Amino acid sequence: MRFLEVFFMDDTFQTFSYLPFKGTVNLNNPDTHLLYLEYYGIDSNDPPSEPYYVFFGRWITSGFRQLIRELSLKTRKFIGNTSMDPQLSLLMANQAQVKLGDLVLDPFVGSGSLLVAVAYFGGYVVGSDIDYLMLHGKSRPSRIKQKKREENESIKANMEQYSLQDKYIDVLINDFATSFWRDDIKFDSIITDPPYGIREATEKVGIHKENYSISEKHLSTHIPAKIQYEFSELYQDLLAFSAKHLRIGGRLVCWFPVFREDYSEEGLPTHECVKLVSNSEQVLSKYTSRRLLTYEKICEPNEENLNSANTIANFRNKYYKARDENRRERRVKEANIREKNRLEALQRQTKLSN
Ligand SMILES: C[S@@+](CC[C@H](N)C(=O)[O-])C[C@H]1O[C@@H](n2cnc3c(N)ncnc32)[C@H](O)[C@@H]1O
Repeated sequence: MRFLEVFFMDDTFQTFSYLPFKGTVNLNNPDTHLLYLEYYGIDSNDPPSEPYYVFFGRWITSGFRQLIRELSLKTRKFIGNTSMDPQLSLLMANQAQVKLGDLVLDPFVGSGSLLVAVAYFGGYVVGSDIDYLMLHGKSRPSRIKQKKREENESIKANMEQYSLQDKYIDVLINDFATSFWRDDIKFDSIITDPPYGIREATEKVGIHKENYSISEKHLSTHIPAKIQYEFSELYQDLLAFSAKHLRIGGRLVCWFPVFREDYSEEGLPTHECVKLVSNSEQVLSKYTSRRLLTYEKICEPNEENLNSANTIANFRNKYYKARDENRRERRVKEANIREKNRLEALQRQTKLSN
C-alpha cells in the first residue's frame, strides 16, 4: 500500500472539485472520512505506472479482521482435533446473519468453535454432540505437547476466556439422529460442521441385533452401542430438522464435503421448506473440497414434506475408495521402480563379470 501524502497538492485531488461538498475541512477530527484508493495489482515488485483501478468512497465502518487473531485456536483454552478456525467460524456466523439476542444451535458442536463466533455477533448459543468425553473436556488433548487435559478445559471456559459467558446457554449430549427437542422450539439459526467420517466417526446410537433389550439392572450403567450414520441420512436429518426448528427466514449454515470431479449443484441436499441461498467452495486437496452452504427457511413443513430432504452423494465411501485406489496405484508404481532398479543392477553385475 502507498499513501499519497502529497494528495492535496496533487492534480488527482482537483478532479473531485465537482463534488458538492460544502463546509470546513477538519482533518484532525473529521465527521466524514472519504477514501481514495488506487489499485496497482498484486505484484509489488513490478507495479504498472498507472493504477488498474481507482476507488473513491465514504468510510462506513472498519472490518473485524483483528478478531481472527484474538480468537486464535493457538491461545484458546479448549480445542479439539476438528476445531473450526476463527476466520471460517466468523464467516459462518456472518452467513447466518446472527444478530443480538438470536437463539442459535450447533447440533454437532464438538469443541464449540462456532459458538464462540456466534456469541461474538450477539447470539445466545446452545450446542449438542454425541461425544460425552468432548463435552466434558475429557477427550484426548489435541495439542502435541499436552499429555493430559487441564481441569478447566471446556466450551464454557472458552466463553469465559472471551467474556462471552452471558451468551452461553449450555451444551448437551445428544445423538442428532434421535432429536430430543420440543416440537415447538424454534431457532433463529443453525450453524454447524457435521462429521465427514474421516477425522471423526459418523455414528449414531443403534444396534444391528434384532429384538435387543437391556435388563432393568443394567439400565443405569448401560452405554449404548453405535452404528454407522450414513452421510446422506445425516444431511437429510439436518435439513428436515432445520425445516422444522428454524423460524421462517432463519438460516442453516453448514459444510458439505464433495469430490470435486463429481460435484454438481443437483447433488446437494434439498428440502422444500429450506431454500439454498449461497454456496461457496473451499478447496481441501486435489480431489476434495467442501461447500459452505447457506439455506433459508421459506415455509413451515407439513406432514408430507417433514422428512422429505434429499441427498445423493456419499462423501465418506468415495473418499476411502479414492484413497485405496491411490494407494494401489502408488504400490504398483513403487513395485515397478524396484523391479527396474533390480534389472539395472543385474545388468551392471553381468557387465562387470564379463
Ligand atoms: C467436525 S466435528 C465438529 C467440530 C466443531 N465445529 C468444533 O469446532 O470443534 C463433528 C462433531 O460431530 C459429532 N457427532 C458425530 N456423530 C454425531 C451424532 N450422531 N450426533 C451428534 N453429534 C455427532 C462428533 O462427535 C464431532 O464432535
